[in-house]
Amino acid sequence: MELDVLTLFPEWFDWFARQRHVANALAAGSSLQLLSLREHSPLSGAQVDDMPFGGGAGMVLRLDVVEAALRARYRIDPVELPSRRRVIALAPGGRVLDDALVDELAAEPTLTLLCGRYEGFDERIVEHFCSDVISIGRYVLSGGELAAMVVCDAVLRKLPGALGDERSAVEESFSAALEGNPEYPHYTRPAEHRGWRVPEILLSGHHARIEQWRRERSRERGERASITERPNPGADGTGGARDRPPRQ
Ligand code: ADE
Repeated sequence: MELDVLTLFPEWFDWFARQRHVANALAAGSSLQLLSLREHSPLSGAQVDDMPFGGGAGMVLRLDVVEAALRARYRIDPVELPSRRRVIALAPGGRVLDDALVDELAAEPTLTLLCGRYEGFDERIVEHFCSDVISIGRYVLSGGELAAMVVCDAVLRKLPGALGDERSAVEESFSAALEGNPEYPHYTRPAEHRGWRVPEILLSGHHARIEQWRRERSRERGERASITERPNPGADGTGGARDRPPRQ
């Protein structure tokens, strides 16, 4: 997987690239390339943003700056890009990232992630240079960098070689192996602490029954999540923390 990230803060990703599962994915043949929007700015003083037409607070990432950065990286007119590779603008209003979308992205040979700042992008960037707009949730971050890291993290850990044990990615929350449900609870030593005992079945060594127990717990969690995942829990006086079933 070839991952390119266009950002005003490439140095933010130094720490990210050093994390073990990311480093493993990179060692296994993936690449993470950072492109500085400021470095590619064709404007004086390395300007990257401007005031919004029509007025309003905040600054908007300029179309010509993003165009110059994309052109420098791919050596073609960026309007050609969306038909050749996924170019993803990160913005709060985009398609919300979930496991199905992560699988879709992980199957791509290349991804380009474009991080906005300030009030966001000139809309023509999205219209003409991007194939997708992705959000990591319905809240506003100060920019797309953390969202890009979330996308890279979720995608890279799906690739062969990123995780120590390949089973971790197969049987995890929301995977097909768990019928899209959250993962079952895990326990480790000590088997008892302050009277809190690990479920007896997990100590039995009976693999088929353990498997069945785990499926049941996973399904239960899925049912609970569908109760608590109302569109806006708490806003109508119901579905808030107090109405939730107790945590397992
Ligand atoms: N940029 C700002 N907020 C964002 C969000 N929630 N998701 C993706 N990109 C963003």
